[in-house]
Amino acid sequence: MKIGTVEIPNRFVLAPLAGISCTAFRMLCKENGAGLIYTQMIDADLISQKTQHEVKQFLNIQEMERPVTVQLISSEKNVLVKAVQAVEQFADIIDLNVGCIEEDFLQKGCGASLLKDLPKLETLLRAMVDTTEKPVSAKIRIGWDNQHINGVAVAQLIENAGASALCVHGRTADQGYAGKVNWTIMRQIKGKVTIPVIANGDVTSYNDGLALLRKTGCDLVMIGREAQHCPWMFHEKPVDIKQQILRFIELYEQYEVRQSPVEVADHVFWMLRDFKTTEDTKKVHVITTIPRIKRYVNRLSSG
Ligand SMILES: Cc1cc2nc3c(=O)[nH]c(=O)nc-3n(C[C@H](O)[C@H](O)[C@H](O)COP(=O)(O)O)c2cc1C
Repeated sequence: MKIGTVEIPNRFVLAPLAGISCTAFRMLCKENGAGLIYTQMIDADLISQKTQHEVKQFLNIQEMERPVTVQLISSEKNVLVKAVQAVEQFADIIDLNVGCIEEDFLQKGCGASLLKDLPKLETLLRAMVDTTEKPVSAKIRIGWDNQHINGVAVAQLIENAGASALCVHGRTADQGYAGKVNWTIMRQIKGKVTIPVIANGDVTSYNDGLALLRKTGCDLVMIGREAQHCPWMFHEKPVDIKQQILRFIELYEQYEVRQSPVEVADHVFWMLRDFKTTEDTKKVHVITTIPRIKRYVNRLSSG
């Protein structure tokens, strides 16, 4: 499977997850078999004002993560072009966020708002494609609301604008994360474009991912919230959750620029979801240093 010239080694993709996709988390997903890694969305306004050195530090992409898609969010062509120029040397693929439903971004005409302004969406994508040699993609929802499900038209526009792939979260913007994902629209989209299509939404296991591929006919499958709790769900082999968490902390200590105990505690708590213990794992949030969090994990009793 290729996106533009970029070879994707398997069909499983780590979703962009704002506030979650730190470098160590992305690396742990990669070690567990994710075939393509997305960064969290990056505000084009912010990144376009940074120096090259600052951009490199900010993205903090490690070679072992590749291929990596860097996701941008913007509704301003000139700002977006600058952001593409700022990230392109670090990215394998550059993606436009067309699905974000955060009010701040919607107000600015970004994210899912672009589903309601197709001429603007086309202008933005064409500008991205004209600016960089790297493959460009877009991540969409199936439409704004139930009365305006335009995913197929949006997908065709994205392909015609020169994008090399698209990802579809099978919900409307109005749905947020409620209700079910719409496999029918995802399947229709796949049938109407020739570029690779990534199906996304509600995958909770490796086999579930394979099922979504079958149901939609899509080329790749993207996993978000389940990976937050189980970065090891990109394969079927049994894992030792404690070892995975300790590996996360090791990667964090070695590669992360921020070294925030709060960030480590959050990830440890999320990854402990399926760890059977009688202890109250919320207590990890009161630990104030990374070495102590490591000791806490080591001592956690299972059962
Ligand atoms: C906490 C959180 C942060 C997210 N951040 C982003 C983001 O930065 N960019 C984006 O396109 N989607 C973002 N999403 C949406 C996910 O990438 C994905 O489309 C959605 O969660 C559905 O997939 P899932 O059911 O596998 O989680 C985010 C979702 C969550 C829950």
